[in-house]
Amino acid sequence: MAASEIVQIKQRFGIIGNAPGLHRAIDIAIQVAPTDLSVLITGESGVGKEYFPQIIHQNSRRKHGSYIAVNCGAIPEGTIDSELFGHEKGSFTGALSDRKGYFEVADGGTIFLDEVGELPLPTQARLLRVLESGEFIKVGSSKVQKTNVRIVAATNLNMEQAISDGRFREDLFYR
Ligand SMILES: Nc1ncnc2c1ncn2[C@@H]1O[C@H](COP(=O)(O)OP(=O)(O)OP(=O)(O)O)[C@@H](O)[C@H]1O
Ligand SMILES: [Mg+2]
Repeated sequence: MAASEIVQIKQRFGIIGNAPGLHRAIDIAIQVAPTDLSVLITGESGVGKEYFPQIIHQNSRRKHGSYIAVNCGAIPEGTIDSELFGHEKGSFTGALSDRKGYFEVADGGTIFLDEVGELPLPTQARLLRVLESGEFIKVGSSKVQKTNVRIVAATNLNMEQAISDGRFREDLFYR
């Protein structure tokens, strides 16, 4: 990776600092960007993880597609499946009309799942299915839909710990 390319990325995103670890992280982001691989960004709070999904999306073939950032930790457990995967009219009180979820809206683009370690287990199961086959089902529906979304996720949790505590699916982690 040319050092000038890293400098360029830093300028474009307003990232400051010259730590080797920072440069290495940007280098890796540029390398994975053109692939369609799912990416998990880990690191403690405040280190600037939120820049990386954007670096990845902007340097990918999906850059003209949509980019949707979702803070999984900020959405109540009762509505997260509906937000991510959509719902059908009448599937729960307040579901007055059909709603498209982020995975349908972001078809052809990238979804950033921030604080992914906070996802409830049933939502993790739905997410695993999207990762494995691109398939999802709206809340209250029985129709399987397809989407082509690249997933970039971030967490400040110790995922090994979350897995051994039974709060995060091991199969999803390895995906
Ligand atoms: N290298 C950097 N250059 C410029 N700004 C930075 C850098 N690192 C962090 N920041 C800024 O610090 C703040 C915190 O960063 P950010 O929210 O991305 O952290 P995070 O890794 O997502 O933390 P958390 O796990 O708590 O969500 C942001 O306003 C971000 O712009
Ligand atoms: Mg963050």
